[in-house]
Amino acid sequence: MPAFLYQRQQQQQQKTLLGASPLSPRAVSFTSRFHQRTVSLFSRSGLLILLSLIVVLGVLIPWIFPTEFFPFSFSSSLSRWRDYTLSQAAEFVGGKNGTIIVCAVSQPYLPFLQNWLISISRQKHQDEVLVIAEDYATLYKINQKWPGHAVLIPPVPPDAQAAHKFGSLGFFNFTSRRPRHLLNILELGYNVLYNDVDMVWLADPFPYLQGHHDVYFTDDMAAVKPLNHPHSLPQPGKKGRTYICSCMIFLRPTNGAKALLRKWIEELQLQPWSKKSRSNDQPAFNWALNKTSDQVDMYLLPQVAFPSGGLYFKNETWVKETEGKHVIIHNNYITGFEKKIKRFRDSGLWLVEDYAREGPLGKL
Ligand SMILES: *[C@@H]1O[C@H](CO)[C@@H](O)[C@H](O)[C@H]1NC(C)=O
Ligand SMILES: *[C@@H]1O[C@H](CO)[C@@H](O)[C@H](O)[C@H]1NC(C)=O
Ligand SMILES: *[C@@H]1O[C@H](CO)[C@@H](O)[C@H](O)[C@H]1NC(C)=O
Ligand SMILES: *[C@@H]1O[C@H](CO)[C@@H](O)[C@H](O)[C@H]1NC(C)=O
Repeated sequence: MPAFLYQRQQQQQQKTLLGASPLSPRAVSFTSRFHQRTVSLFSRSGLLILLSLIVVLGVLIPWIFPTEFFPFSFSSSLSRWRDYTLSQAAEFVGGKNGTIIVCAVSQPYLPFLQNWLISISRQKHQDEVLVIAEDYATLYKINQKWPGHAVLIPPVPPDAQAAHKFGSLGFFNFTSRRPRHLLNILELGYNVLYNDVDMVWLADPFPYLQGHHDVYFTDDMAAVKPLNHPHSLPQPGKKGRTYICSCMIFLRPTNGAKALLRKWIEELQLQPWSKKSRSNDQPAFNWALNKTSDQVDMYLLPQVAFPSGGLYFKNETWVKETEGKHVIIHNNYITGFEKKIKRFRDSGLWLVEDYAREGPLGKL
């Protein structure tokens, strides 16, 4: 049997087990909804019997028989995730509170995703997380380990592997998809909290998202601000624009927030990647903030809670002085996977080695 088929069967077995597990009530309701629809096609009176049978078999069979027994269900589950739409996924993760915590990842970022998710699980917000997979391997991997929490928004970028090199055209293309993803979610009527996955939560950010502003963001500058700094868009810096981070953004499904995202998409098209600028999506985001500031209600989050990597990892004095006040740490102002991992490890923020079990993906 080809190795990939075997792997998919393993995935399916795990999914069935997960679906039947009392530890995962949301996954149960999701799978049973799926089953119900199939059963009602056949008979109404037999529905209950069939349903209980399916549940019982679903629990027992993977234990009793080898997985090779069920070659058909695997391909159907595969096509289920392939065809899983954003609106289905959003309803699954965001139905309760109307807020979705979103990230976008391709395969090379999986260890960072895992690390970020462990930190979110510690704040008990993992149920609201939706991973936008930028390739099919990532989509299947996450939905195998954590059914329903990943979705792929076509079209797939041509070369997801090229996407991880900071400053490359691939990286620009990859990050350029973000505003569109976020706009899609807002248009479904949800609030969205976007995070890069090289971040770690030390506390719950939601109490900081006060008031009813359209958009909340953090400053990417490293200079220390006073604790009571203003919450408006800062003054532009040397390049004529601000340095707001596109790494963490909270948006409400308002006209203002949608106008900002549309402007961001437009700015990305106006200023495409070039060898000279080697940019990502952040400059365009800042120009969009600049150009929509009169029609969008913006809120700058407190630096002490959401410091840039240029402050948190480079000013020990500040970190000590502000101990206990940090909420989300961003591992930026450094490039290269290995360097980022080492820095997280040195700061006690690389959780995947010792605490993988605390996250929804378990050990990868
Ligand atoms: C969802 O609602 C609960 C209860 O009101 C609250 O504790 C939690 O922080 C909310 N989550 C989000 C993402 O807003
Ligand atoms: C990036 O996008 C451009 C324009 O859509 C495309 O021509 C190019 O092949 C893409 N490159 C990579 C590496 O994704
Ligand atoms: C927008 O950018 C221009 C050019 O740097 C600057 O003069 C202007 O003050 C900015 N507007 C806002 C609201 O930040
Ligand atoms: C580091 O933080 C301290 C304490 O907040 C501050 O006084 C100092 O200016 C900072 N150093 C740099 C290089 O920003």
